[in-house]
Amino acid sequence: MQAGAAGARFFDPKNMPKVIYITPKGERREVEVENGYSIMEGAINNNVDGIVAECGGACACATCHSYIDESWIDKMPPMDDMEDSMLDAAFDRRDNSRLTCQLEMNDAWDGLIVHVGENDY
Ligand code: FES
Repeated sequence: MQAGAAGARFFDPKNMPKVIYITPKGERREVEVENGYSIMEGAINNNVDGIVAECGGACACATCHSYIDESWIDKMPPMDDMEDSMLDAAFDRRDNSRLTCQLEMNDAWDGLIVHVGENDY
């Protein structure tokens, strides 16, 4: 078998989907997030303010809490019971609240708008 022929992930950086993060201070950050990475990881990897992610994505801290823009809320997958109960610990939970570590990027979300929650308290 040739090196790199099996299991390699190929992507074209020119066509990577983007997420638009609006930070709690109102800063707009447009960031490329590779498919398979979480919305939380996209923020952490690009130093987007407001996402803390203390538990590293284990759905155990709620410091990746954010609000999905109303124009995208219907395109999100349903949350499971674990995310739902952890969100109860988040500051200012709303109908469009999600834990961004539980949302895995895919091409259909290109242009997704995420309003980052107040997680730095
Ligand atoms: S990073 Fe801890 S719940 Fe999302």
